[in-house]
Amino acid sequence: MEFRFLVYLLTIILILLTRTSLAITFSTSSSSKLIHRFSDELKAFRVFKHGEKVISDSSSSSWPKRKSVEYYELLVNSDLQRQKMKLGAQYKFLFPSKGSKTMSFGNDFGWLHYTWVDIGTPNVSFLVALDTGSDLLWLPCNCIQCAPLSASYYSSLDRDLTEYSPSVSSTSKHLSCSHEFCELGPNCKSPKQPCPYIANYFSENTSSSGFLVEDTLHLATTDDHANKSLVHAPIVIGCGRKQTGGYLDGIAPNGLIGLGLGDVSVPSVLAKAGLMHNSFSLCFNEDDSGRIFFGDQGAATQQSTPFLPLNEIHMSYMVEVEGYCIGSSCLKQSGFQAQFDSGTSFTFLPDEVYKKVSVEFDKRVNVKRTSYEGSPWEYCYEAR
Ligand SMILES: *[C@@H]1O[C@H](CO)[C@@H](O)[C@H](O)[C@H]1NC(C)=O
Ligand SMILES: *[C@@H]1O[C@H](CO)[C@@H](O)[C@H](O)[C@H]1NC(C)=O
Ligand SMILES: *[C@@H]1O[C@H](CO)[C@@H](O)[C@H](O)[C@H]1NC(C)=O
Repeated sequence: MEFRFLVYLLTIILILLTRTSLAITFSTSSSSKLIHRFSDELKAFRVFKHGEKVISDSSSSSWPKRKSVEYYELLVNSDLQRQKMKLGAQYKFLFPSKGSKTMSFGNDFGWLHYTWVDIGTPNVSFLVALDTGSDLLWLPCNCIQCAPLSASYYSSLDRDLTEYSPSVSSTSKHLSCSHEFCELGPNCKSPKQPCPYIANYFSENTSSSGFLVEDTLHLATTDDHANKSLVHAPIVIGCGRKQTGGYLDGIAPNGLIGLGLGDVSVPSVLAKAGLMHNSFSLCFNEDDSGRIFFGDQGAATQQSTPFLPLNEIHMSYMVEVEGYCIGSSCLKQSGFQAQFDSGTSFTFLPDEVYKKVSVEFDKRVNVKRTSYEGSPWEYCYEAR
């Protein structure tokens, strides 16, 4: 009985799957025609994706015979694949095709963390700053006002940085003013016009502006046998024609990758496309090297601190600071909120907290205090 029921159920599922597995093609006339995914008609055009290579497969025997076991297997597999995508986890981890490594170049690059990403077709590499405090990925592009890109300006680079050029990338296309991600859309003269953007940042007078495009971000994933394969994901990019403030001054000279919570951020776009879970991890070593993994959900045993609920003021990663310690002396009842921002070099404290911390620190530090001409710091020490 049970077995029969199962067979019956399977048959129903198979019928449903067969019904949903139709490919729709549109002919040039106004009528359209439904063609089954595994029909003979489509066979001639069919290509199979295998790893990164697309193999044309019009003659091979892998085309399933209609209603064969193989035929249903293929249908079930492709539908399961699609269901998995809907659940948001086609891949467990994704990382930039150049590798998951992050790096820091100290003062030369504003003390931020960076990683190499490959973008466009043919692909070009960019050394982008990692910023959890913003959403947009922007690159120096069709430059009117960009930071210097020549390696001679930076002591830690052995090659020139590159400017992105949408017209050179065959996978690039404009995002129009009518697109949901176009915040400045209502200001456009025509909905078909390329969408302009202006991104203002926490640092004073620091911004990037230009227009939005869609292009391919080249990522990689590894399977259970540690074999690497490439994943080519469409993402939104700010073609940063004009940068100001810190962005002309050695911070993110080759662009910035927004890891924030907004819809346009790289993790949000990858998750919405069903490529991974909407999460990522950034890990840093003491020497400031590190790793980034998109889709990482962390170990089940790992300890965590909850982020504060989002609100209109803070669409960002905020935590509640319950206390702070200087050496063994802990000052309780601090209770302030702090933003988790990988794109800010230093830790900023509210004034009254900063005062308490620095007074306590000064009590404990056993070196001579000094002052420097023009120094903004109240507490300076001669450390020899
Ligand atoms: C980038 O382009 C080079 C040269 O065309 C190619 O060998 C490499 O596989 C490409 N990388 C990705 C991630 O597509
Ligand atoms: C920001 O720009 C304004 C107006 O141009 C200027 O007065 C101010 O000094 C600038 N601030 C910084 C930190 O450069
Ligand atoms: C993974 O790589 C190993 C050796 O590097 C190879 O033998 C194996 O067939 C690969 N597996 C897949 C699924 O590609």
